[in-house]
Amino acid sequence: MKILSIESSCDETAAAVVENGRTVLSNIVASQVEEHKLYGGVVPEIASRRHCEAVSQVVNEALEQAKASLQDIDAVAVTAYPGLIGALLVGVNFAKGLAFSANKPLLSVHHLRSHIAANYICHPDLKPPFLALVVSGGHTSFVVVKDYTSYEIIGATRDDAAGEALDKAARAMGLPYPGGLHMDKEAVGGNDKAFAFPNPIVDGAPFDCSFSGLKTSVVNLLHNARQKNEALSIKDLSASYLHAVVYCLTRRMDAALDAYKFDTVVLAGGVSANSVLRREMQILCDKKGVKLYYPHLSLCGDNAAMVGAQAYYEYQTGAIVDLTLNAQATREIDK
Ligand code: KG4
Ligand code: ZN
Repeated sequence: MKILSIESSCDETAAAVVENGRTVLSNIVASQVEEHKLYGGVVPEIASRRHCEAVSQVVNEALEQAKASLQDIDAVAVTAYPGLIGALLVGVNFAKGLAFSANKPLLSVHHLRSHIAANYICHPDLKPPFLALVVSGGHTSFVVVKDYTSYEIIGATRDDAAGEALDKAARAMGLPYPGGLHMDKEAVGGNDKAFAFPNPIVDGAPFDCSFSGLKTSVVNLLHNARQKNEALSIKDLSASYLHAVVYCLTRRMDAALDAYKFDTVVLAGGVSANSVLRREMQILCDKKGVKLYYPHLSLCGDNAAMVGAQAYYEYQTGAIVDLTLNAQATREIDK
């Protein structure tokens, strides 16, 4: 089964053709990052406009690269939630028009389910059940993936997402957008013990985390240094901050593995590209005798191949939607 998939939840306009959920025939991503960089973050209005301009060409390229025509496609899938509402609506409406005109089934896909599904593409042996850590710009959650379309959230951030905490701290440090990526590079060779950061615990919720205090403490540190005219090593600061964010995540994963006894852990979302997170999770999983999977770097960020992968499994459950489909800015992964 060949699925044509479309993704426009944030600042990448993407389309792909994926066969049977695991084989990528094409994967086209038009990134807007250079434009949003000028503003230090994603400007939703600009994102929506650029999606409008790019979407038809990106879809055409995806079909061309897959050497497929619309008639060869068995279903059209689109990210409908969660994300920037104006951005999502571009993909959703384009997909509706395409499905209607070509008389193909339409599938709506949850963005975070897709991030997890990026791992199905990279690891043919991977099958649920497993424990996933979803870490993106807007979300951070520990999710029990019971089956391809069945989830239970066991922990989540109470405030900022890990990616957001990295992006905001990086911006305060003067690093370009996307901050998480640049902080990862800056931290190489830095001393991760040079600065101490708080290690917040959420009372009574062992798998929940909180990043807003960490972010505030780095902003205060930079502010105080500037007032005293002291120079801080951004390299050491990046390494220490990244270490603190990753420690929050590995600590919860350690506790979650003790409580849930899974033999497989999956990392997903843009922050799963982070080299420190990958290394520390590998150390933890080796210690616990658990297999660790994360996507290839090219599939960590937003793309449509992962949407096509998840859509295949959504289709198996008969989850075809009609033309009343609407986008939603927020929606839990288990809904
Ligand atoms: O999944 P994603 O592409 O978009 C959302 O769904 O939010 O994630 C974007 C996030 C941003 O916060 C970005 O800074 C972060 O992923 N990111 C990284 C790295 N590459 C991207 N964070 C840490 N290390 C990286 N190498
Ligand atoms: Zn994403």
